[in-house]
Amino acid sequence: MAKAWGGRFQQETDPRVEAFTESVSFDSRLYAVDIRGSQAHATMLAKVGLISEDECSQICSELTKIGEEIEAGDFQYSAELEDIHMHIESALTERLGDTGRKLHTGRSRNDQVSTDLKLYVRDAIDELDALLLDVQRSLVDRCDQDADVIVPGYTHLQRAQPVKAAHYWLAYCEKFQRDRDRLADCRKRVNVCPLGAAALAGTSLPIDREMTAKLLGFDSVAGNSLDVSSDRDYLAEFVFALSLISAHLSTWCEEWIIWFSTEFSFLKLPDAYTTGSSIMPQKRNPDVLELIRGKTARVMASVPQLLILVKSLPMAYNRDLQEDKLAMFDAFDTVKACLELTPAIVAGAELRREQIASRLEDGFLDATALMEYLIKQGVPMRTGHETVGKLVAHCEGKGCRLADLSLEELQQACDLIDENVYGVLGTQNAMAALQSYGSGGEQPVADRVAAWKERVG
Ligand code: ARG
Repeated sequence: MAKAWGGRFQQETDPRVEAFTESVSFDSRLYAVDIRGSQAHATMLAKVGLISEDECSQICSELTKIGEEIEAGDFQYSAELEDIHMHIESALTERLGDTGRKLHTGRSRNDQVSTDLKLYVRDAIDELDALLLDVQRSLVDRCDQDADVIVPGYTHLQRAQPVKAAHYWLAYCEKFQRDRDRLADCRKRVNVCPLGAAALAGTSLPIDREMTAKLLGFDSVAGNSLDVSSDRDYLAEFVFALSLISAHLSTWCEEWIIWFSTEFSFLKLPDAYTTGSSIMPQKRNPDVLELIRGKTARVMASVPQLLILVKSLPMAYNRDLQEDKLAMFDAFDTVKACLELTPAIVAGAELRREQIASRLEDGFLDATALMEYLIKQGVPMRTGHETVGKLVAHCEGKGCRLADLSLEELQQACDLIDENVYGVLGTQNAMAALQSYGSGGEQPVADRVAAWKERVG
């Protein structure tokens, strides 16, 4: 095979090397951002006089056509051309001759690839932000639907204290908000333009980096050509942000898988998101939730993959960097697919209110409320903790609940207890007693629901 830039070589490339080194099989999806980048570059080259206005408009309109052909699936890929960038440039040259041969003036594939990746990641971030907002909206919608439902809150998966169901939904809303904030923060570093760093050292040609950066919507221009040619920090940050989204999705799925079990029976999942078993006719399995949880492994693996990739690279560009795309695309596609399904599952699931309510008085969910009542009666916290612990043991012995104890029994444990104690005992009362900002009680949750409605519309 002839080499693309064969001037220097006497031997042809081993065909296995072509297959081994190619990246077009996975970077062709960068075609649209590559064309955007090249059009901005050509516009700048014309402005500084490195190409004529006429050459610029020929290049730009031919690039648009090439983009349309790729989009329509009419573009011829060739095994000899390593990546999408070479494919587009070579198609341009084939069609425009010397004019096409001028496009790469003052540019290297090193800054070109990084520019394309940044444009791609920037769009991906905006897309993910919109998807996360949809998820948040579906959670906020559930708050009204489940407004009167109380659920047990757990620690160590042991019954702890009662909270409004909406408190659970908003807990995920908060997590996804941090994910959105993290993506927005990552976007700032993505939005610094590498174009013009050329191969590693910049160029002697009078390029206008500010102009290309502006044309492409970047906030600023990267200040060190060596640094930019090797920089993949933004990809590591991006996949880390994706991994945390995945972690949040995965905990939600894990929780709902548990809630969907016969043992819990807190939840009905819509048929559209469950599957049957090939042998057990009665089964309805939460496969979609399990797969969202399972796919987290791939997403998270992209973080070490990228870190290991960059950790020992000498400045500046090294071909290792070509591998960056595989990790990022896979993590992005996976998280995107999960987020696309999530709102429908959140909206379609139903809480099994009677099931939840029927066991709400089990597990001493009001024990902490009783302890806090004792504190309000003047009992030191540690003493109150011990007193209630003993009362719980007493109830376990009798097979009853704290609210079933007589005033005499309660006063035997602590003589500061009066009949108002029955106003905090029982799950409903224990939930209602929660009032601190951000807690799971009636009013604090109502306040947060209102705030979230305002925020996500
Ligand atoms: N296909 C390569 C990549 O995606 C292009 C690298 C070009 N630079 C180079 N010096 N070979 O990273």
